[in-house]
Amino acid sequence: MAITTQKLTGLKQEGRPIAVLTAWDFLIAQALDHAGVDVILVGDSLAMVALGYDTTLPLTLDEMIHHAKAVKRGVKNALVVVDLPFGCYQESRQQAIQSAVRVLKETGAQAVKMEGGHPAMVDTIAHLVHSGIPVMAHVGLTPQSVHQFGGFRQQGKSPEAAERILNEAIALEQAGAFSIVLEHIPSDLALQISQKLTIPTIGIGAGSQCDGQVLVTADLLGLSSWQPPFAKVYANLHDSIVQATQAYCTEVREHRFP
Ligand code: KIV
Repeated sequence: MAITTQKLTGLKQEGRPIAVLTAWDFLIAQALDHAGVDVILVGDSLAMVALGYDTTLPLTLDEMIHHAKAVKRGVKNALVVVDLPFGCYQESRQQAIQSAVRVLKETGAQAVKMEGGHPAMVDTIAHLVHSGIPVMAHVGLTPQSVHQFGGFRQQGKSPEAAERILNEAIALEQAGAFSIVLEHIPSDLALQISQKLTIPTIGIGAGSQCDGQVLVTADLLGLSSWQPPFAKVYANLHDSIVQATQAYCTEVREHRFP
């Protein structure tokens, strides 16, 4: 059954947690969709896990669209959400709408995700929503601001910072975001935001009380060489790939394959 933004709101009302994972290519997306994940996020973390950069900042809109098209071709049921990369939506509402329109037109994805909750971003998101573009918001540790944070650090630890993030989340809901990612914030703050908002909260490193959870799939599959402390590794595909490759090399070199 195809998932829509409206169905996600219904899942929050029913109290059924929402499962979200990232994807960066056709085969991964197809497998996640076959497994029944609700939302597939073409996250800009693909800059790190698929392209080998240290941060998400170098990713371009063209690169994102290239990957998102491949992901969308692999998905039948999940809602596909695409991150707008750093530098292609912060300058003006017009820049944001142009980037989001390109993503929706060229990839077939149903929604975009944008980081930040300061008033200018809230205004931009309201403009996109009024133009018919579904937006997933993202507050807390927003990786595109890694240099401003001085690293991938937990956010919202002081009472003032927690209040700011709570107010940002409320403003983003009022701007029309259909859902919001809460990344690497204290679990009591995530619970407070989840109780306050009617739109679903999707947590990553934000405790178990959000309306859904998201992981970077390379972490879940044990493909990445480093995982953040809040990730859970469900398989060790890096080692499986190394072992299969070693077996293949040995058989070729010993004339055992083909
Ligand atoms: O880019 C990404 O993968 C993300 C998730 C971690 C939420 O934004």
